[in-house]
Amino acid sequence: MQKRYTAADVGVFTREEASRFVPSGRGDPQEDATLAWELLYRLEPELYDRLATAERLHPGVVDWLPRGVDQIAEVGAGTGRLTLELIERGHHIVAVEPALPLRRILRRKLAVAGHGSRARVTCGFFDRLPLPDDFAGLVVACSAFTPAAGHGGEAGLAEMERVCRPGGCVAIIWPNHLDWLAARGYGYVSFPGPMSLEFASCQEAVELAEIFYPDAAEGVRRRGSRKVPFELLGTNPPRDLAFKVLAG
Ligand SMILES: C[S@@+](CC[C@H](N)C(=O)[O-])C[C@H]1O[C@@H](n2cnc3c(N)ncnc32)[C@H](O)[C@@H]1O
Repeated sequence: MQKRYTAADVGVFTREEASRFVPSGRGDPQEDATLAWELLYRLEPELYDRLATAERLHPGVVDWLPRGVDQIAEVGAGTGRLTLELIERGHHIVAVEPALPLRRILRRKLAVAGHGSRARVTCGFFDRLPLPDDFAGLVVACSAFTPAAGHGGEAGLAEMERVCRPGGCVAIIWPNHLDWLAARGYGYVSFPGPMSLEFASCQEAVELAEIFYPDAAEGVRRRGSRKVPFELLGTNPPRDLAFKVLAG
């Protein structure tokens, strides 16, 4: 996937995006996988959405989250893999997402699902959330937060906690860097069981494996199924979360 883009493509970033994703002013997506993903969101958002749609979350993850929450804030909402599941759990959700092409897809999905009035999709970044203090009972990010400054970091975690009301829950779904979160008071829960990516067809499984998991593509082709176990791709499944319940 990294080879799809070149250094010239970083021109697609807004000034605010560039200050986070290419702070030195230069970057080469062929050398920097994180940068390549940011370009994917902006240059080929529908391709990204096809992958995210196949990578469904373990149902235990969504089940674990608090129910009946008045206000939910989700950061880095993308095309709504979690947003559309969360909508039933709260009265209203604000989905914060910096990439305009992903916001467009998310708005479209919410409208198609008839949830347009219960959700607000807005631009923002972990380190400067466009939300007031104590705003939400659940503040959540899925496959978006990392300890790196451009993708959350200390400032981003502090912001998520700022907008979470006392007694509310901050949850980082599909976390990496568990030690970093544990050192900041985050607990951890993981849900067992086999998990597979579920593509629309066998053909799509092969096509997307060739792009996103080239080392596993031959195995996916040989398997000949639209369902691909995460182990075959050598990646950890979205079955876990780190969380902190703020003092009431
Ligand atoms: C792998 S996608 C996950 C999207 C969605 N949460 C999901 O699970 O399908 C990572 C998301 O984080 C967003 N993101 C990246 N940097 C961010 C930042 N500094 N602040 C907020 N969101 C960010 C990206 O635009 C992208 O939507």
